[in-house]
Amino acid sequence: MARSGTVHVCSACGHQEPRWHGRCPGCGEWNSLVEEGRAGPTARGLGRVGAAPLTPVALGDVEAPAAPRLSTGIGELDRVLGGGIVPGSVVLLGGAPGIGKSTLTNMALGNLAQAGHRTLYVSGEESTAQIRLRAERLPGAALAVPAIAETDLEAVIATLERERPAVCVIDSVQTLDARELTSAPGSVAQVREVAARIVGVAKRQRIAVLLVGHVTKEGALAGPRVLEHLVDCVLQFEGERERSYRTVRAIKNRFGSTNEAGVFEMRQGGLVEVLDASARFVGSATRAPGSVVLAAMEGTRPLLVEVQALVTPSELMPPRRVVNGLDRNRLALVLAVLTRHGGVPLAGADVFVNVVGGVRIDEPGADLAVALAVASAARGTMLGPASATTPLAAFGELGLTGELRWVGHPERRIGEARKFGLEPIIAPPGSGGCDEPTLRAALAAALPSETRAQRARVAA
Ligand code: TYD
Ligand code: MG
Repeated sequence: MARSGTVHVCSACGHQEPRWHGRCPGCGEWNSLVEEGRAGPTARGLGRVGAAPLTPVALGDVEAPAAPRLSTGIGELDRVLGGGIVPGSVVLLGGAPGIGKSTLTNMALGNLAQAGHRTLYVSGEESTAQIRLRAERLPGAALAVPAIAETDLEAVIATLERERPAVCVIDSVQTLDARELTSAPGSVAQVREVAARIVGVAKRQRIAVLLVGHVTKEGALAGPRVLEHLVDCVLQFEGERERSYRTVRAIKNRFGSTNEAGVFEMRQGGLVEVLDASARFVGSATRAPGSVVLAAMEGTRPLLVEVQALVTPSELMPPRRVVNGLDRNRLALVLAVLTRHGGVPLAGADVFVNVVGGVRIDEPGADLAVALAVASAARGTMLGPASATTPLAAFGELGLTGELRWVGHPERRIGEARKFGLEPIIAPPGSGGCDEPTLRAALAAALPSETRAQRARVAA
């Protein structure tokens, strides 16, 4: 029965194994298992064996005072949160280093302080002088926010208990150190302990906490995925560091929808909300072969983005499939359907697909636009009637048998495309645009300039 005192924990998903593995059996991540001390049965756990039973209360009799939400003063963030921060809730904000997590949370606290709420900024990464330098660049009352630079979890909790702010930022969960654990800060055991203790004090003192968490592609730091069940809301901050556009998306929200996304732009004076995102993204759209405008949905908001494709003869086997801003597997599916049911041969060609502007689209409604862009690039013909002056718009999901499938909110997508004068709008049946039943029909409608001779040449 004597066991070694350690386990191997995956730093990406939290899966535990008694022995080390090169690849995590839980999530398939390579080289993510790290050795940690095994948590023994706690004295607290043993003491509760003979606990007295509790009396359940009917939910209708439970007192639930409706506390007003706290507005962060950043409309896009409030919308993603479901209408502002719920008092006493814990929000995990995950994102790659340099994406703007500290900037966003600084700005939110500044606005809250300006509105008369008690705030606190806890940084385990930067000195208070460094935090001040950033705050100087930000608008509003960012300089009025009280801050501490501390990595000791006990000291942070004691400060929270005494200060009792309405909203507090912890930047970041990976830098706080729970001294009673032997593993290093940032390890799975540490991150989990830190988060659990913070959640405890948040609920006890009704302190809303914005918990910042780093996610790295290599999984070198414990991914916030192990914390998802502990917190009320998980926000993912995405975008490419080299580009200025950033999106904040809710992937879990106990107090709101998970469909919302907010778009920001990183500027000199901090993050600026992008309210007219469609105008930015389609403003530069052209009618060149390989380009199409996708009428996408970001939560409840329509968003127009330009999808571009490039198809070139390939020397490689298998040929290249490079995609930016879309799911790789989804592209593979679209290319397979396009080859099989659209009559576009791609076996000997490299295919590159890019969503312009650095935004990421995560919905099946992108399929048709990708298929049209690739078909147009492969044939070297532009989409839409030759006389058209604006780009063609499209949306819809592709079925494996080549049929076009209905996707949510067609009226909003079409409304947004019409607002920008895009015509025609190729869509699945029942959408109210230029509806086509199959990919083949959509291709025929979108590439009318293609002559019979061209089609024969492509088929040959
Ligand atoms: P930061 O919020 O520190 O990122 P994170 O906390 O996610 O690691 O900021 C990221 C980048 O944003 C940083 O490289 C500098 C840039 N930045 C601006 O461009 N404008 C600004 O006003 C601020 C404050 C930062
Ligand atoms: Mg930071």
